[in-house]
Amino acid sequence: MRAVDLIRKKRDGGELTGDEIRFLISGSTSGEIPDYQMSAWLMAVVWRGMTAAELGVLVEAMMESPRRLDLSHLSAKKVDKHSTGGVGDKTSLIIAPIAAAAGVVVPMVSGRALGHTGGTLDKLESIPGFNVRLTLDEFRNMLGEIGCALIGQTEEIAPADRKLYALRDATATVESPYLICASIMSKKLSEAIDALVLDVKAGSGAFMKTEKDAAYLAELMVETGKRVGKRVVALVTGMDQPLGRAVGNSLEVVESVEILKGEGPEDLRELCLELAAWMLLLGERVKTVEAGRELAEEFIANGSALDKFREIIRRQGGDERVVDDYARLPHAANRRDALSPASGYVTGMDCEKIGLASVWLGAGREKKEDAVDPGVGLIVHKKPGDAVRQGEPLATLHYNARARVDESASLVERSYRIDSERPAPLLLVRKIIGP
Ligand code: URA
Repeated sequence: MRAVDLIRKKRDGGELTGDEIRFLISGSTSGEIPDYQMSAWLMAVVWRGMTAAELGVLVEAMMESPRRLDLSHLSAKKVDKHSTGGVGDKTSLIIAPIAAAAGVVVPMVSGRALGHTGGTLDKLESIPGFNVRLTLDEFRNMLGEIGCALIGQTEEIAPADRKLYALRDATATVESPYLICASIMSKKLSEAIDALVLDVKAGSGAFMKTEKDAAYLAELMVETGKRVGKRVVALVTGMDQPLGRAVGNSLEVVESVEILKGEGPEDLRELCLELAAWMLLLGERVKTVEAGRELAEEFIANGSALDKFREIIRRQGGDERVVDDYARLPHAANRRDALSPASGYVTGMDCEKIGLASVWLGAGREKKEDAVDPGVGLIVHKKPGDAVRQGEPLATLHYNARARVDESASLVERSYRIDSERPAPLLLVRKIIGP
């Protein structure tokens, strides 16, 4: 078998056999198939799509690894949550400690920044010392001891995604429902979970721009999970504006801690409570979503979710003092406001541009080997529905590299639509699939 023939076959709209897909994935992971050939194949998949049979094999092939995680010694239900990616989407940092504080085991394998969206691992790594590269044994031990750990793909858990994720980020091959489904489900099904809550984003800041495309991706993932006996629910949620106000790694850690302290922006708190409630329901800690919300609220109010976050940080080598002293997190040296070109109401945002402005400041990568700048990003002051005056700040950019700030500010300014009439409020949860 030759990779070039399989690239050509997919390019021309053919269906690959199981053996052909396994050949590509194992060859990519072992390094026998070079990145340039995998990139070409990924682009062919973006254009041509996949059949259900191809997708099924792709997920299985991407789960191949030298060892399997075994959590059968833990009696509590194991439940995880994953988002398809958005701007300012920091819910994992908040929900994982809430669910673990409530007695659900959360074995979370996350990703880095992808395209214009941020990544949980980069956010966590902005906490000085935080180690997301635990071995399988360390991961397993931590889950047994404190009920939660947050790591990245390793050589032992979803090694194929570790490679392909970074490649897709740098080759504009993220936006395929099949590749997103395989990337997410290969990680999640390697975690020995009983159940999974998916937050499938729809809108200008998501990879799926329409609700219809997001619902299609949600169905693919729910079906993939159910086929192997997992309880899966997918919430299709709006991503037409940043979630919360902070975009950028350490800025998002601060906002997450604020929510765990019972403060912070209402939309972020609302989505976290909804997702946490579903985790508690699937984790059999409560009997209804409403009861799950109440329990999640209780664990925020009594401080146990914040204590769990401190414990996670400490156990993963990080400086837990950041929770009480934000100055211990990395900060950008400079600030610059993006100003409103007109007066009126914010009627909409091109949220992808906000994400790109943050990447452009250094919060994401342009090449696989790039390091992210943990302190840069932006704080959004105006969101859809807000009144604004000409010259008023729309957002404040936190930056280090002066050369890029003007272009980023211009991107932010161009992302806003301002009109004379206040728009109807945006709905956060649009659809629930699969319960
Ligand atoms: N999250 C993932 O883990 N993978 C994707 O492809 C997109 C979002």
